[in-house]
Amino acid sequence: MSADLKSSGLEGVVAGKTEICSVEQGELVYRGYEIHDLATNATFEEVAFLLLIGHKPSERELADFIAELKDHRALQPPVVDFLRAAKPMLASGSAVPMDVLRTAVSIAGNVDKRSQDISHEANLAKAKRLTAKIPTMIGHMQNVIDGRDLVAPDASLSHAANLLYMIRGTKPTEEEARIIDVSLILYAEHDYNASTFASRVIAGTLSDLHGAVTGAIAALKGPLHGGANEAAMEMLKEIAVVMDGGGSVEEFMENAFASKRKLMGFGHRVYKNGDHRAGILHALGRKYAEGKGDEFSRWFDIGEAVQKIMLEEKSIHPNVDFPCGMTYFVMGIPVPQYTPIFVASRVTGWAAHVMEQHANNRLIRPVSEYVGPRDLKWNG
Ligand code: COA
Repeated sequence: MSADLKSSGLEGVVAGKTEICSVEQGELVYRGYEIHDLATNATFEEVAFLLLIGHKPSERELADFIAELKDHRALQPPVVDFLRAAKPMLASGSAVPMDVLRTAVSIAGNVDKRSQDISHEANLAKAKRLTAKIPTMIGHMQNVIDGRDLVAPDASLSHAANLLYMIRGTKPTEEEARIIDVSLILYAEHDYNASTFASRVIAGTLSDLHGAVTGAIAALKGPLHGGANEAAMEMLKEIAVVMDGGGSVEEFMENAFASKRKLMGFGHRVYKNGDHRAGILHALGRKYAEGKGDEFSRWFDIGEAVQKIMLEEKSIHPNVDFPCGMTYFVMGIPVPQYTPIFVASRVTGWAAHVMEQHANNRLIRPVSEYVGPRDLKWNG
């Protein structure tokens, strides 16, 4: 790749300072805490508090935060009306769940009394409301797709357990709830990734939090970013079809390399020697799949074979989206909801960045190098 093309992706460019997160090959840190520590010892609610408020919560602070999130899980009527109206759009394929979620968040902003208020206090209140409501938007959307009654949020369940409950309609086991919880912790924040940068650009014009999150959702949807968790699973399903027809993973990979296909769930702009998050989720997902039987652990067998060939032939490691695809699939979550679940977590990181941007704002406005024609004359 030419140096010009690399720089056009802003690779290696330091675009600002942040106290929220550091993404390094050596470690991934949220406000001073390393990701393995958080994934082992914290809950998503604790991590959300850490990101939004800035420090580890005391017991009292955490209890109040959890109660506040639970209080705000119900959706405003216009959002529910829209989710019901989205059924034909989803059925026809003109919209996918990420599009519907983007619009639902935008409508939630339109009916939020403080939507135009960008003070820190209003932003924090709105961030908590959105964090609470997004799982309900995802759950209700899936209920609408499945043609069943909307599953109301269950206040006895944690954020992660309630999310899975609303999507599937059955209460998750402790292991399932913890796996979703860890995946939300891993997805919560990642410094100046594309969607977060988009949210900061929007916030930098002094626009509002719901608008910034709406724009960030659009950025996250693409398969080069959050959409990779869905695309990775679709690729594994494609490989399974090849295998069921008598082919092999090796054959699929040879064809992929020959056609210069990008394998979804592999590679990263910053992590060139592996993504810290991938191994954590892979281990949990594999153990869970093994517990469910060969039919389920087969997906991890295929995934590991792909990983081995990618590493041997291209020295490219999986990113977190690769094990996420397999893990969510084994849990019975519909594939088009994988990236919306990513949103349910990353909304905390985006909101933290919007608040950081507003607290010390300068319009984000880079320049480009003009390489188009000059001296053309309109009348000849
Ligand atoms: N499959 C095949 N080849 C890949 C690859 C992948 N997933 N990721 C990177 N490469 C190759 C590129 O083709 C390039 O090869 P070249 O130098 O011969 O052209 C080389 O590795 C460097 O990659 P580059 O495209 O410069 O990396 P990037 O920093 O611009 O891209 C991603 C990073 C994430 C966009 C890229 O790795 C990708 O498209 N991955 C798949 C999508 C994905 O999983 N996204 C989620 C990221 S968390």
